[in-house]
Amino acid sequence: PIPVIMDVDTGIDDALALLFAAAHPDIEVLGVTCVAGNAGLEQVVENTLRVLHLADASDVPVAGGAPRPLLAPARAASHVHGADGLGGVALPASGRDAVGESAVALMRRLIMQHPTPVTLVALAPQTNLALLLRTHPEVAERIERIVFMGGSASVGNATALAEFNVWHDPEAAAIVLDAGVPTVMYGLDVFNRVAVPQALADELASSSHRVGRVVGQLLGHRVALSEDESLMYTGLIGDAGAVCALVAPELVRFEALPVRVELSGYSRGQTIVDRRAFAGEDRLHGLDDEWSRSQVALGIDADAVADLLVRTVLALPGE
Ligand code: BDR
Ligand code: CA
Repeated sequence: PIPVIMDVDTGIDDALALLFAAAHPDIEVLGVTCVAGNAGLEQVVENTLRVLHLADASDVPVAGGAPRPLLAPARAASHVHGADGLGGVALPASGRDAVGESAVALMRRLIMQHPTPVTLVALAPQTNLALLLRTHPEVAERIERIVFMGGSASVGNATALAEFNVWHDPEAAAIVLDAGVPTVMYGLDVFNRVAVPQALADELASSSHRVGRVVGQLLGHRVALSEDESLMYTGLIGDAGAVCALVAPELVRFEALPVRVELSGYSRGQTIVDRRAFAGEDRLHGLDDEWSRSQVALGIDADAVADLLVRTVLALPGE
């Protein structure tokens, strides 16, 4: 299995991602670190512990990290994820607390201890990762790669141009892209495409399968951003898609492209992806040190990925 550390801001779709990772035989979750984003830090930690408990993964250490971005003010996302971050889907208490170590300390220890390079899966604002890479630069060569949900080569969601995770802490994302570690960007170009059909989500929500039921409820959380009922169900698997891409890269089309993060003005938090480029070609105008190459996900077999998610979580014990 691929050894991973997950950095999350649980979060409806972070919850789906954690359940998928815990359930998939090709992934070994070494630890989970939490950061403020979709909800405040304390709520994120509590949600994460509960989700892991549901997945029978209560032995996985969970650490709390940055309560706010490096420079930007903390901002709420309760209009998307509900006041509790999980759209009101109540999960049983886990009966444990986060470990005493900080997120940075836990990541460093797990990375340095592990006999082979570790993959970081970042599904949230990248504050913890930036702090790790700046505080302990020696970890960089022990990291296989950083797979992050964030950014976009097209439209934004937090603003017209910026995706939420990068927009929430743009300086952190810039530090991570610049750290010399291979990165995989699972941005809105693919994030916005993978959904479970409503009929299947409804069926899961009322099934007798303990985990399937929660997955159905999470998918069914209506985002009341629109007055139009028919637009409310999205069923997006969101962050979970980035973890699917890790174990099933054949379902995703990646291109190695230069990426940079805008840090000022209206475009603050935008990832600019230079799509003029093609693999191996660096003789382009306007590329300087501010650009890092990332494997950018631009295409996805959405139905196959949604199917992979559902099949995998249903393999967890249903009683
Ligand atoms: C990202 O922001 C959060 O709402 C989701 O959990 C995802 O990580 C999408 O922009
Ligand atoms: Ca997230």
